[in-house]
Amino acid sequence: MNPRPSVQNLTEEEAAAELSALSKEIAHHDALYYDQSTPDISDADYDALRQRNTQIEARFPHLIRADSPSNRLGHTPTGSTFDKVDHKTPMLSLDNAFDEGDVDDFFDRVRRFLNLGSNDPLPIVAEPKIDGLSLAALYQKGKLVRAATRGDGTTGEDITENFRTLKDVPHTLQGTFPDELEIRGEVYLSRHLFEDLNHARERAGLPLFANPRNAASGSLRQLDASITASRPLRFFAYDLGYPTPKPFDSHWDLLTSLKNWGFSINPLSKLCPKPQDAKEVYASVYGARATLDYDIDGVVYKVNDHGFQRTLGSVSRSPRWAIAHKFPAEQAETYLQDILIQVGRTGVLTPVAVLKPVTVGGVVVARATLHNQDEIQRKDIRIGDAVKIQRAGDVIPQVVEVILSKRPQTASPFIFLDHCPVCGSLALRKENEAATRCTGGLICPAQIVERLRHFVSRNAFNIEGLGARHIETLWQRNIIKTPADLFTLEVREKSGEIALASWEGWGQKSTDNLFASINDRREISLERFIFSLGIHQIGQSTARLLAKVYKTIETFVLALTKAQDLNNEAFHTLLSIDGIGPSMAEDLVDFFKEDHNRSVISDLLTHVTVQPFVAPQVGSSPIADKTVVFTGTLNTMTRGAAKAQALALGANVAGSVSKKTDYVVVGTDAGSKAKEAEKLGIKTLTEGEWLALIKE
Ligand code: IVH
Repeated sequence: MNPRPSVQNLTEEEAAAELSALSKEIAHHDALYYDQSTPDISDADYDALRQRNTQIEARFPHLIRADSPSNRLGHTPTGSTFDKVDHKTPMLSLDNAFDEGDVDDFFDRVRRFLNLGSNDPLPIVAEPKIDGLSLAALYQKGKLVRAATRGDGTTGEDITENFRTLKDVPHTLQGTFPDELEIRGEVYLSRHLFEDLNHARERAGLPLFANPRNAASGSLRQLDASITASRPLRFFAYDLGYPTPKPFDSHWDLLTSLKNWGFSINPLSKLCPKPQDAKEVYASVYGARATLDYDIDGVVYKVNDHGFQRTLGSVSRSPRWAIAHKFPAEQAETYLQDILIQVGRTGVLTPVAVLKPVTVGGVVVARATLHNQDEIQRKDIRIGDAVKIQRAGDVIPQVVEVILSKRPQTASPFIFLDHCPVCGSLALRKENEAATRCTGGLICPAQIVERLRHFVSRNAFNIEGLGARHIETLWQRNIIKTPADLFTLEVREKSGEIALASWEGWGQKSTDNLFASINDRREISLERFIFSLGIHQIGQSTARLLAKVYKTIETFVLALTKAQDLNNEAFHTLLSIDGIGPSMAEDLVDFFKEDHNRSVISDLLTHVTVQPFVAPQVGSSPIADKTVVFTGTLNTMTRGAAKAQALALGANVAGSVSKKTDYVVVGTDAGSKAKEAEKLGIKTLTEGEWLALIKE
């Protein structure tokens, strides 16, 4: 995981930008995990992304996005052709414990919550954590009527027909049961069938599944149920989603009933009188792991008493009454044959270790992530080294350490690229940042689709009718290579050079609408234009600030080109703008350093007129030319909106309090800035006073 700046040091703008990026990044990993069953980061890295998102949201609650990952339990399936199913109750996930300390904390927490003394009985059920995919099966009057994948925890996919092909799933329940029941459990593929399946795929020249879980997921989500039937999946039941509250006294009673109704219950599950006994089950299950014909990745501890479970309830995504005690990662030794550099959609260069293939925990591993330059240096990883690698869960493995005693004499320290391996642009790493980034965003094939998507987005050029998929297709077919190409689409269509209207899913009407939308944007404000360039860290309000200072596109381009010379006055002017810190100034200058970025702008200017910045009508504004600082949380609007309003009324908005500040608007939970204002004797306003002032 890249070390990122501490959340405490983030400015509001950086926080907003990072929340937006995290939302996309997490959705991307969710899609890989849930839609394609091909995750490309470790569970730990994924969890770290979510945790970072939560921390930033806790510090900047007013920046929480409508599409925040915290509001999504997992992933809403996209592009699938299965019907959507709403689960009777949300399908939660489990908190993880990685060592005994975490487990003891869990039991202490439970006891505290239940007001239990350390000697009061607290029976626990310990069950293997099956590494498959969770599933909800609905039974009405004892008949299986519907089965659904977890999806985002609220809505999953209807895979009833496929689920019916599982041999250990009863179509009709035995014994007595409530009228309506939703059974929860894990679908999995045995290791030996996974091996057979991959051998068959290899012979057929098909891509191999990375592990049994991905194979199970791929097999369950087949449109043709006979394919699912040909890959005998299995099912362990372990919980009830409906009715709630669960009509049993304890989890153990529930498991007994599940068994009596005809389900398979994992035979290693144990009812433990004391938490200490549960920890012993962990040790024995861990020992038995290698002999099992299915993958498990830990042991789940569940508070047995359903009364206790109800009291404990759940918090955000997981119940308080259960925890997954994960097994340590599996390790193996191999050789590092090469280091490749991959470029991600946001331009980050990520080093990847090419390994001599080795089997780790039953899976052949040939690649490992190296995260970033620091990681390579810290571990002094060199091409040719013998390395210890580990797999945590089922995803991309990591290099744990170099085995120095085996280092070949010829191995020399790895020199990180200073150019993007995809487009050749300068690749830069800023102080305090772990990531090295390609600066060729607008021409780099690895990033262009993302950049074009930003370019046409609502707050940039606002071109309607061009979704990410359209852009991808246009780019792949060589029709749009840079933003300027958008503005020649219509001419090319009319001349017959391209024929968008005849493409499947486009049609005359939508292409006409698209051209109309593009033509509408041939005149654009300077602030939108700057924002649309997608320069790292330059969000909407910074773009507006720049527009306000430089006024015309010509002055802006000239000044930023000159600012490359850090001794030039242009650079000092840039740095002196309130709201532009050194790190942003550096990003702006880096962007303008690249010839191809300047050509993108000049090409665009042959098609687009950029309107000079028009100072808002500020004659009567009491805050015209005043410098205002906002601090704390505002009640009636976000801080971003308040800033935009102040700018529109002709004020300057600054990020920190100085002698030049005229007003400090103090919201709730304001910190040091309010104190600073007091110290410097600067006028502070409550939110109400501020609103009254600007209404005058
Ligand atoms: S109980 C409310 N028991 O682990 C908690 N889950 O992140 C419901 N899993 O999504 C889960 N074995 O897919 C439970 N014995 C077990 C399990 C188990 C595997 C999976 C399940 C869940 C994930 C937890």
